[in-house]
Amino acid sequence: MCGIFGVITNQDIPIGKIALEGIKRLEYRGYDSVGIVSQHDGKLFIKKDAGKIDEVHKKLKLDDFPGKIAIAHTRWATHGAPTKINSHPHTNCSNNITVVHNGIIENFMTLKEELIQRGHNFKSDTDTEIIPHLIEEKMKEGLDFKDSIIEALKILKGSYGLAILSLYVPDTIIAVRKESPIIIGIEPGVATYCASDFPAFLPLTKTYYILEDCEMAILKAGEVEFFDMNTSEIIEKKSQQIEWSINAAEKGGYKHFMLKEIYEQPEALKRTLKISNEDIKIFAQIILSANDIYITGAGTSLFASLAGKFIISKFLGKYIQAIECSELKGQLTNFLRDNSVIIAVSQSGETIDTIEAIRWAKKAQNLKILSITNAVGSSITRYSDHFIITQAGPEIGVAATKTYSCQVLTLALIALEIAKLRKIEPESEIQNYYKALKSTPQIIENFLSNNINLIRKIVKDLEKHSSYFFLARGISIGTAKEGGLKLKEVACRFIEGYSAASAKHGPIALVRKGYPIVFIAPPDETYVRLIGNLMEFKSRGGKIISIVVESDKKIRVHSDMTIDIPQPADIYHSIFSPITFIPALQLLAYYTAIFHGLDPDKPLNLSKTVTVH
Ligand code: AGP
Repeated sequence: MCGIFGVITNQDIPIGKIALEGIKRLEYRGYDSVGIVSQHDGKLFIKKDAGKIDEVHKKLKLDDFPGKIAIAHTRWATHGAPTKINSHPHTNCSNNITVVHNGIIENFMTLKEELIQRGHNFKSDTDTEIIPHLIEEKMKEGLDFKDSIIEALKILKGSYGLAILSLYVPDTIIAVRKESPIIIGIEPGVATYCASDFPAFLPLTKTYYILEDCEMAILKAGEVEFFDMNTSEIIEKKSQQIEWSINAAEKGGYKHFMLKEIYEQPEALKRTLKISNEDIKIFAQIILSANDIYITGAGTSLFASLAGKFIISKFLGKYIQAIECSELKGQLTNFLRDNSVIIAVSQSGETIDTIEAIRWAKKAQNLKILSITNAVGSSITRYSDHFIITQAGPEIGVAATKTYSCQVLTLALIALEIAKLRKIEPESEIQNYYKALKSTPQIIENFLSNNINLIRKIVKDLEKHSSYFFLARGISIGTAKEGGLKLKEVACRFIEGYSAASAKHGPIALVRKGYPIVFIAPPDETYVRLIGNLMEFKSRGGKIISIVVESDKKIRVHSDMTIDIPQPADIYHSIFSPITFIPALQLLAYYTAIFHGLDPDKPLNLSKTVTVH
């Protein structure tokens, strides 16, 4: 969704360049217009337009701004088309207050009508524009600038992360947060930054503060003060240090972030394997003692949840229901019992549908929220009783790759801890599962070093097909769905992940001679039935591509092509195949995008962090 980056410094540096580079580092969030405002010598300088940052920069020279203070914004259109006039920053009637916004103001229509009646002139169709006008209105009532903001925001319904630059307080940026992330970075005594996410200021400073809901930050060069918006009282906050390396948010020689992040999976998994066992144990104990257990998420996180529910259920001996986060309230109203658990999975920790689901559940019943996220300090951590941070590191590619495998691995660690606590298997057997899980980074590393040419060949073979299926049974249905999602988002191909058993109830009607079907076929308890499904498609002329383990004998014979997943002797276990099989599908998506001339890091219409319903 929208990206915000603000900078205020006492150094003589090209402020436009800093603002432009900062907002560019948030490109991955998805956007369709960009704008920057700076302040110098009592004047505001604004440049904005629809289009990608590089295109707008070519037209407007976005690196050329005077002053030592600037705010930059990328807009992902919600209210109002992606046009120049709707781009942020937005201003008031006197053009002396500028606001950039991430989130949605739900009651903006009524407020806009009232403001128009009071003589305010609006230029855009956005919800955001009412904010500078409301602040202006409060200033007219005689409040100072800070209190005008506080009073104006009290009227708003909805979510916002805001950065405000005004001639009323020319040496200050004001940042405010309600349900949309804002973090503050600081180089003490030199410069202060505000941003929607860490990568924006990662090369500039590693020292940060998290702004909580209903808090305001007043940024001066190298200083920051925090206020509680409800009481106006000062809040003392301790700064923290970002642990990521500065080049974590750089492409590091790869053509795209997506490819880099696919290749980072072995290291990301190794780090995630080292998550504190104390945290894993807390999750395991709570899950063990719960009445009902639900797991929820959106997109890739939901598909990781599908795999996770299989793995945990196996050792827990209880059913876990996976529910898409946007459906959770609808499906569980009146059915949620006390002493239940909701496991929420979210890479960003900011997906509004996931957050709304857990907040609703927590209000509705006495239950525990356990969340798994990749983002330190994200909203989801605040609404959870306990949380675990996966150790994937920053994921810049819009398509989730390494965060998916780390989510599944985290859920697998919880499952094995449950097995230990329940003592359902002999200790030696549980240790074998651990060995298998710990072998997943090496399996992926071996796969990634040996299969690029094969994947490219398959991409070429599939080139003329704009639709096909990934079919699977059991635990691999989540893998198939995740593969289908990757192809849709980065390669713009309608490739569907589907249950192999269900496919004969409809999708099989699409099969003609040469129609491709990719089977995901680890050697688990569904294997024999999957062969049956495969034959149904083969006998109708389907071109069969199978993803199998190296030692596979049967499916290989019936397939036109196979992709082999390494299978170290003794320590392999198919229950972890959602981790080891997914890189093949991620690469298929990546190289299909490249083959069709698409930029896999910038899929059309998509946003990395979806903060609207
Ligand atoms: C994944 O490739 C997608 N970009 C998307 O489906 C994503 O997984 C979904 O929006 C959920 O995001 P979250 O994990 O940050 O909650």
